[in-house]
Amino acid sequence: MLTLSLTTVLYIAASALFILSLSGLGRQETARSGNLYGIIGMALAIIAAAFGVTEIQRDLTVANVHGSGFGMLAAAIVPGAVIGAILAARVAMTAMPELVAMLHSFVGLAAVLVGLASHITPLKELTGADHTIHAVEIFVGVFVGALTFTGSIIAFLKLRGSIGGKPLLLPGRHLLNLAMVLGSVALGYLFLGDPAQSLTWLLVMTGVACLLGVHMVMAIGGADMPVVVSMLNSYSGWAASAAGFMLENDLLIITGALVGSSGAILSYIMCQAMNRSFISVIAGGFGSDGGAPAAGGAQAITGDQTEISPDDTVELLREAKSIVVVPGYGMAVAQAQHTVSEIAKLLRKRGAEFRFAIHPVAGRLPGHMNVLLAEANVPYDIVLEMDEINDDLPDTDVVLVIGANDIVNPSAQDDPSSPIAGMPVLEVWKSKTVIIMKRGRGTGYAGVENPLFFKENSRMLFGDAKKTVDGLLTKLRE
Ligand code: TAP
Repeated sequence: MLTLSLTTVLYIAASALFILSLSGLGRQETARSGNLYGIIGMALAIIAAAFGVTEIQRDLTVANVHGSGFGMLAAAIVPGAVIGAILAARVAMTAMPELVAMLHSFVGLAAVLVGLASHITPLKELTGADHTIHAVEIFVGVFVGALTFTGSIIAFLKLRGSIGGKPLLLPGRHLLNLAMVLGSVALGYLFLGDPAQSLTWLLVMTGVACLLGVHMVMAIGGADMPVVVSMLNSYSGWAASAAGFMLENDLLIITGALVGSSGAILSYIMCQAMNRSFISVIAGGFGSDGGAPAAGGAQAITGDQTEISPDDTVELLREAKSIVVVPGYGMAVAQAQHTVSEIAKLLRKRGAEFRFAIHPVAGRLPGHMNVLLAEANVPYDIVLEMDEINDDLPDTDVVLVIGANDIVNPSAQDDPSSPIAGMPVLEVWKSKTVIIMKRGRGTGYAGVENPLFFKENSRMLFGDAKKTVDGLLTKLRE
């Protein structure tokens, strides 16, 4: 059993490691060490929570706070860890948002259960202002937890396709949301003022918050679900933080705040990259008015697509002095990154300037392309962000667009009626030749046509990205 001071030291160490982890995860070069800090921090946190004593437990002066608890703890942790490890090992990269949504629902549910338990069996008797503050902590924690729980389940079901991605737009839905929030505030007033019925009011509010979570996420278009997952990530952090207040656990408060604020920052970055409004996400109903993939009134595209053969592509690549690859969702689906990395190695050896251009929302989750390229051992210094490379594209000989679509769509700039109007894009059409690899005439995530494919300097190389790049590599090696 650990003493209170040792427990505190472990909590401080874990908090510092979590902060180091977040800062490490912010850059590709340090992401692995960031991950490691997070793992060590979490291991310390679990040890401290299981074997340590918090102030509240010390004050309880219960002879053996833990004594009987270890069996139950092990019964929860061991199967949980095994199931988690199996699911995480099995999940496809493209299905990661689903898994994350599911995990957020657990955090929400945990906050609700901790709140209800703290209310039913308080750890210590509080009076006066202390009691009121604790009651508010419980109420807010349960509210955010319940909202996160049901919201995350709906997000999970939408991402899986178990329920349709179309936004559910009930008449007066904003008023309905407002009524539920105000109703919860009123229930909070009753909860504080009516101790005899407080559990009833708490449970009624839990039901209302669950409904609010369902309604808010149901009103969001499927295309914008990853942003919502990141918002729910933020909510789950605040719910965990609230649980930390209820349990007087400083580490939980700090960790929850870190998750809450980093989730909010990530949502903001994603919103900017997709030209969406942050406020409308928080308010729900996001993606329903003009957002992707609504069938927007985009301008009709005329002209023909010009195809190119693999042989001609290889010829162009051999002659090119500068080459930029734009990877997208299709490269992830095809798992073409390893071959693309080999092509990069080969052409760099032959003296070409070869770089990768990463759009902030390429693929289906933040950093999706960075992860794939790191997995394929592409050197970090040739992987550039959109803002770093856009100005270089006019001087680039060949741009290879591999399974990307929306992120290179010029109508985001030229067509104000396009559903993706205003979204920042990679200006690949300014290069000398753009070769676009895709299987057919399918649209991207936003469901809009792409005039890039009809431009004079564009060439279409149809086929599965993996098979196509395998063929190119073989020919390049000949
Ligand atoms: P998309 O616009 O979705 O385009 C992917 C393209 O890949 C499709 O046009 C598809 O065309 C092609 N493709 C699919 N499978 C392929 C395969 N096996 N081989 C070759 N091509 C294949 O992808 P993007 O350009 O990466 O853009 C990402 C989109 O997701 C954006 O709209 C973005 O807003 C949205 N989004 C991203 C995120 C994050 S955080 N990354 C979050 C939310 C939303 P074919 O069917 O013709 O092959």
